[in-house]
Formats: sequence, C-alpha cells, structure tokens
Amino acid sequence: MKTSFSLKKMKEEQEKIAMVTAYDFPAAQIAEQAGVDMILVGDSLGMVVLGYDSTLPVTVDDMIHHGKAVTRGAANTFIVIDMPFMSYHISTSDTLHQATRIMQETGAHALKLEGAGEVTDTINRLTRGGIPVVAHLGLTPQSVNVLGGYKVQGKDAEAAKQLVEDAKKVQLAGAMALVLECVPKELARLVTEQLDIPVIGIGAGNHCDGQVLVYHDIIQYGVSRVPKFVQTYTNVNDTIHSALHSYVEEVKKATFPTDEHSFHMKDDVLTTLYG
Ligand code: KIV
Ligand code: NA
Repeated sequence: MKTSFSLKKMKEEQEKIAMVTAYDFPAAQIAEQAGVDMILVGDSLGMVVLGYDSTLPVTVDDMIHHGKAVTRGAANTFIVIDMPFMSYHISTSDTLHQATRIMQETGAHALKLEGAGEVTDTINRLTRGGIPVVAHLGLTPQSVNVLGGYKVQGKDAEAAKQLVEDAKKVQLAGAMALVLECVPKELARLVTEQLDIPVIGIGAGNHCDGQVLVYHDIIQYGVSRVPKFVQTYTNVNDTIHSALHSYVEEVKKATFPTDEHSFHMKDDVLTTLYG
C-alpha cells in the first residue's frame, strides 16, 4: 500500500505513478489486481456512470456511496476521493464537515480539491486536520462554466506563469500531490520540475511524475468518444454488445437455457407428478 510518503519517494526515485479512476467494487478490485499505485474516485462518475453532462450535479452523498464500494474493492490501494462541486466553498465549518464525512464513511486516504486561490487555505486547513489533500489545477471541470468549456489551459505566458505560481502555493499549503489536467506538456514539465510533490498528469504529457485516466476511457466502456489525450487499450463496448446480443437471440430462439443450465427432478418424483 502506497502512502503520501512513499508516493513522494517515487517522484524522487523517478518511478512513475500509475493512477486510474474507479467508481464501483469490481473496477476497484481489477485496478488493484492490475497494480495501480493510486485509485481516484473521481466526480467524473457523474458523467461516466450516472449520465449527467457535467460533474456539477454530483453530491457528497454520491461520492460516499461510490467511495465505499471502491474502498471495499481495493483495501490495499491508496484511494483518493474528489470533493464534489461547491462542497468546499460554502464555509470552513461546512467544508470540514463534508470532508470528515467522506473520510470517515468511506475509509479513503485522501481528498482531491480543484483550484488554488481561496482553495489554498482550505487545502491547508484540511491537511492540518489530518486529511491529506491532492490538488487539481489546469482544466478544473467543476469550473467548466467559468472556463467556457473543456479547453487546454495555460497556453499563453501569463496563464502559464499563474499556473506555476498556483502549483507552488498549493504545495506550500500542504498538498501531498497535484493533478494537472489538460495543459501543454512543456508547462507540465516545468511544474513537475519545480515541485517536490508528485505531479500526476492527464492530458499533460509524459514528463509528469505519474498519469491518471478515467477507467471507462481506458477500456471504452459506455463512452463512444474519448478525448485526444486518452489511450484506449481495449473496447469492452463491443464485447458487451455482442454478448448481450447473443443472449437476446438465444432467449428468443429458446436455445438458452440448455439442459446443462437446468435443474432436474428425480424420475420417481416426476412419475408421481404426471401420474
Ligand atoms: O474526476 C476525475 O476523473 C478526475 C480526473 C480526470 C483527474 O478528476
Ligand atoms: Na474530478
């Protein structure tokens, strides 16, 4: 089981960190068996498994419900859970209450918060309370309506400088790691070099200390289109579609269930029944 300490050591020793999202028990089990270093219960669950068109409708209760399934499935993996939209902005006491609920009810190891600015203080407050925090900069999907869409961030000099500054601030506030989403690889490289904490990239090139991808994107499960930065390794949509299609056909033709799938009565009982 990785810890915030051993993950930092991986950065120092230039051992790449592999992280994947998971939202349920079987996915968590397979991720752990596959040897991932960290699992993220991302609020992307809103889009990937709940069918919303953004992460905004996801609630703390949703995160806890799915988080519990994931911690049951991967008891020996470092698990990070996203604090969802507006659950860490209302007041310090509300933030501490929501964060405590997620940690205590799920048994996760860390929480992830999007943004810098006033969130920097929140990162510090949670860390001082004993909750490790993963920061998230670059494209922050909870702010999609402010950013004006899902776009690459930090492309011009000013935005790039701001991002480097923000990254240093969240590290100073106590963040144990930083997720960097959708930024030019050159900028991600600079941030990775400037920070002591692990930088986990998604759409941020190969110089980061690690990578994170959405589970369903990696295996093409339920998703029809994937972003440019995703590598799909298989297509389970096709596998599931063909399996379910065959099942429907066999039920219609009554070729399923066969005798092998059926239970049988003893002959003498049968005789009594039929007379
Ligand atoms: O919710 C999520 O899946 C994430 C990753 C894309 C980093 O935050
Ligand atoms: Na997220």
